[in-house]
Amino acid sequence: MTYEVFATQQEAVKQLAAEVAELIRSRQAEGKNVVLGLATGASPLGFYAELIRLHKEEGLSFKNVTTFNLDEYYGLPREHVESYWYFMHTNLFNHIDIPAENINLPSGTVAEEDIAAHCQAYEDKIKACGGLDLQILGIGRTGHIGFNEPGSDDTTRTRQVHLDDLTKTDAAPAFGGFENVPSYAITMGVATIMDAKKVRLMAWGEKKASIVNKAINGPITADVAASYLQKHPDAKYFLDAAAGSEL
Ligand code: GLP
Repeated sequence: MTYEVFATQQEAVKQLAAEVAELIRSRQAEGKNVVLGLATGASPLGFYAELIRLHKEEGLSFKNVTTFNLDEYYGLPREHVESYWYFMHTNLFNHIDIPAENINLPSGTVAEEDIAAHCQAYEDKIKACGGLDLQILGIGRTGHIGFNEPGSDDTTRTRQVHLDDLTKTDAAPAFGGFENVPSYAITMGVATIMDAKKVRLMAWGEKKASIVNKAINGPITADVAASYLQKHPDAKYFLDAAAGSEL
Protein backbone atom coordinates (compact mmCIF):
# COMPACT_ATOMS: atom_id res chain seq x y z
CA MET A 1 0.00 0.00 0.00
CA THR A 2 1.22 3.49 -0.81
CA TYR A 3 -0.09 7.01 -0.54
CA GLU A 4 0.56 10.33 -2.21
CA VAL A 5 -0.30 13.76 -0.86
CA PHE A 6 -1.13 16.27 -3.59
CA ALA A 7 -1.22 20.05 -3.24
CA THR A 8 -4.81 20.06 -4.52
CA GLN A 9 -7.65 17.63 -5.11
CA GLN A 10 -7.70 18.69 -8.77
CA GLU A 11 -4.10 17.51 -9.30
CA ALA A 12 -4.86 14.21 -7.61
CA VAL A 13 -7.99 13.42 -9.63
CA LYS A 14 -6.25 14.33 -12.88
CA GLN A 15 -3.52 11.80 -12.17
CA LEU A 16 -5.97 9.09 -11.12
CA ALA A 17 -8.25 9.67 -14.10
CA ALA A 18 -5.22 9.50 -16.42
CA GLU A 19 -4.29 6.13 -14.90
CA VAL A 20 -7.82 4.79 -15.37
CA ALA A 21 -7.99 6.16 -18.94
CA GLU A 22 -4.71 4.42 -19.75
CA LEU A 23 -6.07 1.14 -18.36
CA ILE A 24 -9.26 1.48 -20.45
CA ARG A 25 -7.32 2.32 -23.62
CA SER A 26 -4.77 -0.47 -23.20
CA ARG A 27 -7.62 -3.00 -22.85
CA GLN A 28 -9.34 -1.49 -25.90
CA ALA A 29 -6.16 -2.04 -27.88
CA GLU A 30 -6.33 -5.75 -26.93
CA GLY A 31 -10.05 -5.93 -27.72
CA LYS A 32 -10.79 -6.66 -24.05
CA ASN A 33 -13.13 -5.33 -21.39
CA VAL A 34 -12.00 -3.68 -18.18
CA VAL A 35 -13.89 -4.10 -14.91
CA LEU A 36 -14.06 -1.07 -12.60
CA GLY A 37 -15.38 -1.03 -9.05
CA LEU A 38 -16.96 2.36 -8.35
CA ALA A 39 -17.81 4.38 -5.27
CA THR A 40 -20.28 7.10 -4.36
CA GLY A 41 -20.10 10.02 -1.92
CA ALA A 42 -18.56 13.44 -2.39
CA SER A 43 -14.99 12.13 -2.65
CA PRO A 44 -15.08 10.72 -6.20
CA LEU A 45 -17.11 13.59 -7.73
CA GLY A 46 -14.09 15.46 -9.13
CA PHE A 47 -12.69 12.20 -10.49
CA TYR A 48 -15.96 11.44 -12.29
CA ALA A 49 -16.05 14.99 -13.68
CA GLU A 50 -12.55 14.43 -15.07
CA LEU A 51 -13.58 11.10 -16.66
CA ILE A 52 -16.52 12.90 -18.31
CA ARG A 53 -14.14 15.59 -19.58
CA LEU A 54 -11.82 12.94 -21.00
CA HIS A 55 -14.81 11.38 -22.77
CA LYS A 56 -16.18 14.64 -24.19
CA GLU A 57 -12.92 16.41 -24.99
CA GLU A 58 -10.40 13.66 -25.56
CA GLY A 59 -12.52 10.91 -27.06
CA LEU A 60 -12.14 8.39 -24.23
CA SER A 61 -14.73 5.67 -24.83
CA PHE A 62 -16.27 3.53 -22.08
CA LYS A 63 -17.78 0.97 -24.46
CA ASN A 64 -15.45 -1.73 -23.12
CA VAL A 65 -15.98 -0.83 -19.45
CA THR A 66 -18.02 -2.93 -17.02
CA THR A 67 -18.75 -1.43 -13.61
CA PHE A 68 -19.73 -2.77 -10.21
CA ASN A 69 -20.66 -0.27 -7.52
CA LEU A 70 -19.67 -0.91 -3.96
CA ASP A 71 -22.99 -0.43 -2.29
CA GLU A 72 -26.59 0.78 -2.19
CA TYR A 73 -28.92 1.94 0.55
CA TYR A 74 -31.44 -0.77 1.39
CA GLY A 75 -35.00 0.42 0.97
CA LEU A 76 -34.35 3.08 -1.67
CA PRO A 77 -35.73 2.61 -5.18
CA ARG A 78 -33.47 3.58 -8.11
CA GLU A 79 -35.33 6.82 -8.79
CA HIS A 80 -34.84 8.14 -5.22
CA VAL A 81 -32.48 11.13 -5.49
CA GLU A 82 -30.30 9.75 -2.68
CA SER A 83 -30.02 6.26 -4.16
CA TYR A 84 -26.57 5.34 -5.40
CA TRP A 85 -28.11 4.22 -8.69
CA TYR A 86 -29.39 7.79 -9.16
CA PHE A 87 -26.06 9.25 -8.01
CA MET A 88 -24.04 7.20 -10.49
CA HIS A 89 -26.32 7.99 -13.40
CA THR A 90 -26.46 11.74 -12.76
CA ASN A 91 -22.76 12.10 -11.92
CA LEU A 92 -21.20 9.72 -14.46
CA PHE A 93 -23.15 7.17 -16.50
CA ASN A 94 -25.54 9.63 -18.23
CA HIS A 95 -22.56 11.58 -19.57
CA ILE A 96 -20.41 8.79 -21.04
CA ASP A 97 -20.93 6.01 -23.60
CA ILE A 98 -20.94 3.03 -21.23
CA PRO A 99 -23.49 0.40 -22.38
CA ALA A 100 -26.38 0.22 -19.87
CA GLU A 101 -26.01 -3.56 -19.64
CA ASN A 102 -22.43 -3.15 -18.36
CA ILE A 103 -23.57 -1.24 -15.26
CA ASN A 104 -24.04 -3.15 -12.00
CA LEU A 105 -25.18 -1.93 -8.58
CA PRO A 106 -26.60 -3.88 -5.65
CA SER A 107 -30.38 -3.54 -5.55
CA GLY A 108 -31.93 -1.39 -2.84
CA THR A 109 -35.32 -2.98 -3.31
CA VAL A 110 -34.63 -6.73 -3.41
CA ALA A 111 -37.10 -8.57 -1.17
CA GLU A 112 -35.80 -9.40 2.31
CA GLU A 113 -35.90 -13.15 1.63
CA ASP A 114 -33.92 -12.75 -1.62
CA ILE A 115 -31.06 -10.65 -0.19
CA ALA A 116 -28.65 -13.56 0.36
CA ALA A 117 -29.16 -14.88 -3.18
CA HIS A 118 -28.87 -11.38 -4.62
CA CYS A 119 -25.55 -10.81 -2.82
CA GLN A 120 -24.18 -14.18 -3.94
CA ALA A 121 -25.21 -13.41 -7.54
CA TYR A 122 -23.36 -10.06 -7.30
CA GLU A 123 -20.18 -11.84 -6.19
CA ASP A 124 -20.61 -14.47 -8.91
CA LYS A 125 -21.07 -11.84 -11.61
CA ILE A 126 -17.89 -9.99 -10.56
CA LYS A 127 -15.99 -13.30 -10.86
CA ALA A 128 -17.64 -14.18 -14.18
CA CYS A 129 -16.51 -10.80 -15.57
CA GLY A 130 -12.92 -11.65 -14.62
CA GLY A 131 -12.76 -9.85 -11.26
CA LEU A 132 -12.31 -6.17 -10.46
CA ASP A 133 -9.34 -4.68 -12.31
CA LEU A 134 -9.45 -1.45 -10.33
CA GLN A 135 -11.60 -0.48 -7.36
CA ILE A 136 -12.28 3.19 -6.60
CA LEU A 137 -12.88 3.99 -2.93
CA GLY A 138 -13.69 6.82 -0.57
CA ILE A 139 -13.44 6.44 3.19
CA GLY A 140 -16.09 7.15 5.81
CA ARG A 141 -15.26 8.66 9.18
CA THR A 142 -15.85 5.24 10.79
CA GLY A 143 -13.08 3.91 8.55
CA HIS A 144 -15.58 2.21 6.31
CA ILE A 145 -14.89 1.39 2.69
CA GLY A 146 -18.12 0.72 0.86
CA PHE A 147 -20.41 0.37 3.85
CA ASN A 148 -18.10 -1.97 5.76
CA GLU A 149 -18.67 -0.50 9.19
CA PRO A 150 -16.56 -1.31 12.28
CA GLY A 151 -16.73 -5.06 12.87
CA SER A 152 -16.31 -5.92 9.17
CA ASP A 153 -13.30 -8.20 8.85
CA ASP A 154 -11.41 -9.35 5.77
CA THR A 155 -13.56 -12.44 5.26
CA THR A 156 -16.70 -10.37 4.56
CA ARG A 157 -18.37 -10.53 1.13
CA THR A 158 -21.38 -8.77 -0.40
CA ARG A 159 -24.12 -8.70 2.23
CA GLN A 160 -26.67 -6.58 4.03
CA VAL A 161 -25.22 -4.38 6.79
CA HIS A 162 -26.52 -2.10 9.52
CA LEU A 163 -25.26 1.49 9.25
CA ASP A 164 -23.29 3.09 12.05
CA ASP A 165 -24.84 6.18 13.72
CA LEU A 166 -21.84 8.32 12.67
CA THR A 167 -22.40 7.29 9.04
CA LYS A 168 -26.09 8.17 9.34
CA THR A 169 -25.21 11.52 10.94
CA ASP A 170 -22.89 12.34 8.03
CA ALA A 171 -25.65 11.40 5.55
CA ALA A 172 -28.43 13.22 7.46
CA PRO A 173 -28.19 16.62 5.70
CA ALA A 174 -28.69 14.98 2.28
CA PHE A 175 -31.73 13.11 3.57
CA GLY A 176 -33.21 16.09 5.41
CA GLY A 177 -32.67 14.56 8.84
CA PHE A 178 -31.12 11.59 10.64
CA GLU A 179 -34.48 9.79 10.89
CA ASN A 180 -34.80 9.70 7.09
CA VAL A 181 -31.45 7.96 6.53
CA PRO A 182 -31.88 4.25 5.78
CA SER A 183 -30.56 2.02 8.57
CA TYR A 184 -29.41 -0.75 6.25
CA ALA A 185 -27.40 -1.08 3.08
CA ILE A 186 -26.08 -3.78 0.78
CA THR A 187 -22.33 -3.56 0.33
CA MET A 188 -19.45 -5.48 -1.16
CA GLY A 189 -17.35 -6.94 1.65
CA VAL A 190 -13.76 -6.26 2.63
CA ALA A 191 -12.73 -9.54 0.93
CA THR A 192 -14.51 -8.49 -2.28
CA ILE A 193 -12.54 -5.22 -2.27
CA MET A 194 -9.24 -6.93 -1.36
CA ASP A 195 -9.65 -9.20 -4.40
CA ALA A 196 -9.49 -6.20 -6.75
CA LYS A 197 -6.20 -6.13 -8.66
CA LYS A 198 -5.75 -2.41 -7.93
CA VAL A 199 -7.38 -0.24 -5.28
CA ARG A 200 -7.39 3.57 -5.45
CA LEU A 201 -8.79 5.47 -2.48
CA MET A 202 -9.51 9.21 -2.49
CA ALA A 203 -9.83 11.39 0.61
CA TRP A 204 -10.01 15.16 0.82
CA GLY A 205 -10.16 17.70 3.60
CA GLU A 206 -9.39 17.99 7.27
CA LYS A 207 -12.41 15.93 8.33
CA LYS A 208 -10.74 12.81 6.92
CA ALA A 209 -7.23 13.44 8.29
CA SER A 210 -7.63 11.45 11.50
CA ILE A 211 -9.26 8.35 9.97
CA VAL A 212 -6.80 8.37 7.04
CA ASN A 213 -3.92 8.31 9.52
CA LYS A 214 -5.54 5.46 11.49
CA ALA A 215 -6.16 3.45 8.32
CA ILE A 216 -2.61 3.90 7.04
CA ASN A 217 -0.56 3.82 10.24
CA GLY A 218 -2.80 2.13 12.78
CA PRO A 219 -3.24 -1.57 13.51
CA ILE A 220 -4.93 -3.78 10.91
CA THR A 221 -8.31 -4.34 12.49
CA ALA A 222 -11.99 -4.88 11.75
CA ASP A 223 -12.59 -1.69 13.77
CA VAL A 224 -11.25 0.24 10.75
CA ALA A 225 -12.12 -1.68 7.58
CA ALA A 226 -9.80 0.47 5.44
CA SER A 227 -6.81 -0.72 7.55
CA TYR A 228 -6.91 -4.06 5.66
CA LEU A 229 -5.68 -2.17 2.58
CA GLN A 230 -2.25 -2.11 4.28
CA LYS A 231 -2.01 -5.76 3.17
CA HIS A 232 -3.11 -5.10 -0.43
CA PRO A 233 -0.29 -5.47 -3.00
CA ASP A 234 -1.45 -2.56 -5.17
CA ALA A 235 -3.49 -0.09 -3.13
CA LYS A 236 -2.86 3.66 -3.21
CA TYR A 237 -4.36 6.59 -1.32
CA PHE A 238 -4.81 9.86 -3.23
CA LEU A 239 -4.90 12.64 -0.64
CA ASP A 240 -4.97 16.40 -0.58
CA ALA A 241 -2.77 18.28 1.88
CA ALA A 242 -5.54 18.55 4.50
CA ALA A 243 -6.47 14.84 4.42
CA GLY A 244 -2.78 13.94 4.68
CA SER A 245 -2.03 16.41 7.47
CA GLU A 246 -1.90 13.84 10.32
CA LEU A 247 0.32 11.30 8.57
C1 GLP B 1 -20.55 6.78 2.13
C2 GLP B 1 -20.28 5.64 1.12
C3 GLP B 1 -18.82 5.35 0.98
C4 GLP B 1 -18.09 6.67 0.94
C5 GLP B 1 -18.16 7.33 2.29
C6 GLP B 1 -17.56 8.70 2.36
O1 GLP B 1 -21.43 6.50 3.12
N1 GLP B 1 -21.00 4.42 1.32
O2 GLP B 1 -18.58 4.55 -0.17
O3 GLP B 1 -16.74 6.47 0.61
O4 GLP B 1 -19.45 7.29 2.83
O5 GLP B 1 -18.38 9.66 1.76
P1 GLP B 1 -17.85 11.05 1.27
O6 GLP B 1 -17.00 10.79 0.08
O7 GLP B 1 -19.09 11.83 0.91
O8 GLP B 1 -17.09 11.65 2.39
